[in-house]
Amino acid sequence: MITPPGVAWIIGGGSGIGAAMALQLAQAGWMVAISGRRIERLNEVAAKSSRIKPFQLDVTDIAAIEEAVTRVASQFGRIDLFVFGAAAWQPSRLADYDFEGFHALVDTNLLGFVRMANPLVRQMERQEGGGQIAVIASVAGYFGLPRAAAYNATKGALINLLQTMRTELKPKRIRVRMLAPGFFKSELTAKNDFPMPFLMETDAAAKRAIDGLLRSERFEIAFPRRLAWPMKLLRMLPYPVFFSITDKMMPKP
Ligand SMILES: NC(=O)c1ccc[n+]([C@@H]2O[C@H](COP(=O)([O-])OP(=O)(O)OC[C@H]3O[C@@H](n4cnc5c(N)ncnc54)[C@H](OP(=O)(O)O)[C@@H]3O)[C@@H](O)[C@H]2O)c1
Repeated sequence: MITPPGVAWIIGGGSGIGAAMALQLAQAGWMVAISGRRIERLNEVAAKSSRIKPFQLDVTDIAAIEEAVTRVASQFGRIDLFVFGAAAWQPSRLADYDFEGFHALVDTNLLGFVRMANPLVRQMERQEGGGQIAVIASVAGYFGLPRAAAYNATKGALINLLQTMRTELKPKRIRVRMLAPGFFKSELTAKNDFPMPFLMETDAAAKRAIDGLLRSERFEIAFPRRLAWPMKLLRMLPYPVFFSITDKMMPKP
């Protein structure tokens, strides 16, 4: 399946994989709306292509979301592909489940998407041919690992939610997709002080995401395979074996 160019809306389109996806989609003939909080970053990306338009939005601001969906849909006529890539990331301290830290990540990564879901579904139901809703989760959402309690929990919850939405929205001709990247270079990973196996270039990660979205019908788009497949295998192990591996990720006392 190859999807013809249409209208895309990328949340987190001012930086990282979102900006790279916006530029690649624009080059392929799509009209692209990009959103995020920092207008200057959105403007920098939009300056690179007349097909990209900035729409400043904070996904924690529920009042602004409904209006943003209406603005994007009325400016472009429809929304064929919605990509949610907004995320906050902070390594969690070992054995510390600090409420404020959790709240900040859940509010953006999970509830940010939930706030957008109903207005988007209503828009896609109204338009001929339905649409696609894609969320950038992560292989980090496959299971819980030390030092990433809050982030992993948000990504795991997103994967679970998207599984439900995939089934529930199919009759409405809305296709739900889940992106599960490994590590790629971005402002987010620049904060990491641990080894990141198979770290990808941002543009290469964006290309994998777009190819998966436009050239396949798959629910899950996981890459790079050399990281995604071992992670999938780890997820399938019986818990005693799984925990014997994750125990080794803890620092020596
Ligand atoms: N880098 C990796 O290795 C990796 C791996 C797996 C998954 N991911 C996921 O990929 C997605 C993109 O991340 P990235 O690595 O490309 O890093 P990034 O450049 O930091 O992208 C995160 C984006 O989210 C936006 N954002 C954050 N809070 C927001 C809010 N409240 N409202 C609206 N937008 C908000 C940011 O823009 P503003 O700050 O301007 O709002 C930024 O553009 C994230 O979902 C991340 O979890 C990344």
